[in-house]
Amino acid sequence: EKGEYRHFMEKEIHEQPDSVQHTLSEYLDLVTGKAKTGAIDFAAIDRIQIIACGTAFYAGQIGRYTFERIAGLPCDVEIASEFRYRSPALSKSTLAVAVSQSGETADTLASLTWCKREGLKTAAVVNVHSSSMAREADILCPTHAGPEIGVASTKAFTAQVAALLALAVAAGVQRGRVDADKEAELVKALFESPRLIAECAEHHADIEAVAHDLAKARDVLFLGRGAMFPLAMEGALKLKEISYIHAEGYAAGELKHGPIALIDEETPTVALAPLDDVFEKTCSNLQEVSARGGPVIMIAPETAPAPHGADIRRIHPPDCHPLIAPLVYAVPVQLLAYYTAVHKGTDVDQPRNLAKSVTVE
Ligand code: F6R
Repeated sequence: EKGEYRHFMEKEIHEQPDSVQHTLSEYLDLVTGKAKTGAIDFAAIDRIQIIACGTAFYAGQIGRYTFERIAGLPCDVEIASEFRYRSPALSKSTLAVAVSQSGETADTLASLTWCKREGLKTAAVVNVHSSSMAREADILCPTHAGPEIGVASTKAFTAQVAALLALAVAAGVQRGRVDADKEAELVKALFESPRLIAECAEHHADIEAVAHDLAKARDVLFLGRGAMFPLAMEGALKLKEISYIHAEGYAAGELKHGPIALIDEETPTVALAPLDDVFEKTCSNLQEVSARGGPVIMIAPETAPAPHGADIRRIHPPDCHPLIAPLVYAVPVQLLAYYTAVHKGTDVDQPRNLAKSVTVE
């Protein structure tokens, strides 16, 4: 039941501290500060191929950045409906990883089966532990989001991200890329995310005010760099799905290669800008947007310097370790879509034309 919440989506956004904590505990030990030695032998593989659809695909892309950065493990991510029909060339030392909330998405399941038949080792990051994918894969990597009722995925997404980040730490340790001190630092950082997610979810007044204006837009651009790029695409997808506003997620560095042509006074840009090693670069992209009269909504910590320009509004998530920024920043992105949809009066939990589980192609 929805309890004190207006919609399941709102309830599920607020459940994320618990679902992330529960999922992290599957893969990491808070007490020892170590990654649990799970069923995956990351030293025995030389590549990961993630296969997923929709929101799970964006979680996979965040996973990819992390597997490569902290474990030095090459990782590809592909949309299952493409992977399935293009005869991909894969070496036998590749681990295929399906990512899915339902574990029943037809294209993802067929891709997983195809990989298994090709003789690859397979794993499935799934939320429904009795699902077809959970049974099909050699290794089950559970997420613990609990049942997700809202059609637009929220807590299943952050649980997928949490599982993939934790697995990337395990991969880094197993492959000798992460020493004991670094492991302790990363595990500690991951376990800080539930508290920071809760903090974000509680401070929604600023987001509601921004959403009030966003509801008037016809098109919205989401920008990010690094792991914030897939989160920008996820933010655009959430806004499209539940508010029916057209939105696109772009890598901030791609702005001047085309999408900047869309910028005008009526087209807001939402930027995901944690204080990381590319913060300055994102800032200069925002100055370019602002100089062309585009309204900017910058999601950045209070401690981050403000870019120069008019009409730049800010949403302040708490400071956080760069590893967990995709988990923490997911919350303002989800709430922005949520409050925009509420303001427009759409059916948040049952958006038009969408089904919770896509078991047909
Ligand atoms: C978006 C959304 C969908 C699903 C996609 C895959 O909010 O929920 O894009 O992520 O249909 O579904 P699963 O994860 O069940 O394979």
